Amino acid sequence: MAEAEPSFKDPRWSLKGVTALVTGGTKGIGYAIVEELAALGAAVHICSRNQTEINERVREWESKGFKLSGSVCDLTSKAQREELIKTVSSVFHGKLNILILL
Ligand SMILES: NC(=O)c1ccc[n+]([C@@H]2O[C@H](COP(=O)([O-])OP(=O)(O)OC[C@H]3O[C@@H](n4cnc5c(N)ncnc54)[C@H](OP(=O)(O)O)[C@@H]3O)[C@@H](O)[C@H]2O)c1
Repeated sequence: MAEAEPSFKDPRWSLKGVTALVTGGTKGIGYAIVEELAALGAAVHICSRNQTEINERVREWESKGFKLSGSVCDLTSKAQREELIKTVSSVFHGKLNILILL
């Protein structure tokens, strides 16, 4: 019998211990990327401009057992981008492995 093709759900694929920042993680492409990274075990931080939506997404993902955090950031603002990096550095203790900028 032919061996099954490896998939991203294969237990050999793991992002446990890996940290990721996904901007625009509350909707669309960002949301889908967060789902995949977190399902593989990564700790993910998201940002968007809407605190209520961030809270809803974090609650939703925490209920699935994902390691998630989020904070508000308008990426058009240099000051808010700098604040985001400080927050992420604090949350992940200075280690960021994956950066998804949308
Ligand atoms: N969907 C496609 O087929 C497609 C194709 C090619 C390229 N793209 C590009 O890929 C990116 C994502 O597309 P999408 O369809 O996933 O969009 P989307 O569903 O509108 O999601 C955009 C995400 O980014 C956040 N966001 C928007 N402006 C922001 C800002 N200034 N600061 C921080 N967060 C911000 C949004 O949250 P808030 O609005 O609450 O801040 C939301 O979480 C866009 O740049 C789009 O142009 C999309």
